[in-house]
Amino acid sequence: MISFLSGSGGVGKSGIALNLGGIYARQGKKVLLIDLNMGLRTLDLLMGDEVLATTNIMDVLSGKIKLLEAAIPHQDCEDLQLLSASWTKDASCIEDEAFKELIKEAREHYDYIFLDLPVGSMTLLKMAINASDFSLIVSTITQTGIRNADKIYSIFREHRIQEVGIIFNMVRQDLIKRGVYPSLEEVSERFPINVWGIIPFEDTLNIAMEQGTLIRADSKKMSARALKNISRRLEGEEIPFINLNKNSLLFLKW
Ligand SMILES: Nc1ncnc2c1ncn2[C@@H]1O[C@H](COP(=O)(O)OP(=O)(O)OP(=O)(O)O)[C@@H](O)[C@H]1O
Ligand SMILES: [Mg+2]
Repeated sequence: MISFLSGSGGVGKSGIALNLGGIYARQGKKVLLIDLNMGLRTLDLLMGDEVLATTNIMDVLSGKIKLLEAAIPHQDCEDLQLLSASWTKDASCIEDEAFKELIKEAREHYDYIFLDLPVGSMTLLKMAINASDFSLIVSTITQTGIRNADKIYSIFREHRIQEVGIIFNMVRQDLIKRGVYPSLEEVSERFPINVWGIIPFEDTLNIAMEQGTLIRADSKKMSARALKNISRRLEGEEIPFINLNKNSLLFLKW
């Protein structure tokens, strides 16, 4: 089970969790996405035009229905399923014990469970981190992105939690070259944790999310390749990082 966290909003957590989930589900694994953006859900809109989230996490936590009845399959991929956030209840309605029970049950039925976290609720964040086997902080390499990602990382530092990595998203090589963004070496030095992926800024993810489709794992697009590589690294393979600089033959050293 993996938590997707960030210090700033809109950095790509939901899109990354959804599409990584899609990659695994298309390989025949069962994947459950749990949207914890209580009161402001997003993932239900990204599951395809025909998908209507009529049930949500609160129905399961309150014992009204079973997890497997509440989980909604993606329109293009049966094995990618969503437990939607509640539209009306906020994060304070999630009780620790009931949440643990839900996760216990989810672990029995799914190969991967991805928690898509909102920005801002520390209580929810800590609950998710404690329940997860691993956490991925998603960050842009903008000044604010890095500072806020570091704030989130400080929770792991303080509690000496090692099971955490980082994904840099929306990376623009042209702005790194112009010195607007720091280099990837500089940014990764700020975080003494593994970099699990570097995803370029590209329309591919944007378009897929707007259309309610999943990116194709065999796509030649760099963001799709970067996501595929993250999925393989999480499965234990050693994969070099893709070269974001199309004009250079040098591969980034991670
Ligand atoms: N690598 C990328 N290149 C271009 N656009 C991207 C990339 N990653 C995500 N986006 C776009 O950025 C927007 C925000 O993405 P997303 O909703 O996944 O972020 P989030 O971190 O989950 O946001 P929130 O904090 O509001 O939950 C979306 O429109 C998405 O398509
Ligand atoms: Mg989101």
